[in-house]
Amino acid sequence: MNNIYLVGFMGTGKSTIARRLQKFLPFQIVEMDEAIERVEAMTIPEIFEKKGEEGFRKAESQLLAIIAKEKNQIISCGGGIVLKPENIAIMKESGTVVRLTSSAETIFERVNRNNNRPLVKGKGLSDIQKMISDREKYYADAADIVVDSGEQSPDEVASEIVKQLALAGRLN
Ligand code: S3P
Repeated sequence: MNNIYLVGFMGTGKSTIARRLQKFLPFQIVEMDEAIERVEAMTIPEIFEKKGEEGFRKAESQLLAIIAKEKNQIISCGGGIVLKPENIAIMKESGTVVRLTSSAETIFERVNRNNNRPLVKGKGLSDIQKMISDREKYYADAADIVVDSGEQSPDEVASEIVKQLALAGRLN
């Protein structure tokens, strides 16, 4: 199916780019973190607090399996969706995985602005750098297309994604 899964580390701009992409494509947006919050009737920090990371990951995978049954969606995924190979398999079977990248400095600046990401709360730049490098292989495994979202404007990033999707014959 033709879903577009936006993946990438926290703070790479997945939600912003999802909205910009919608200008180019007549697709629905699915915000996975928001959907998990609705299903669980808790905020992300509350889910981590009450159910742990494992409980969150379980809810995330269950939701992905449901979302993947539909088509014509731009799905803004939580940054850790790639940590389970079965999630990557579901995304690849049901669409194209677009990875957004940004420098650790840019990510650090962005994630520092709010408090709703338990895994990076109170972390310094070097912790973030380590997390990014620990996760590199997972993002690399998942990605069909890679676009840098650190330097360009959201419109430029969105049009670059559309260009690459078209070039790869993945817009049908
Ligand atoms: C996470 C990323 C978050 C959210 C949760 C865990 C991660 O989503 O799903 O806090 O493990 O990278 P964003 O990437 O939208 O911040």
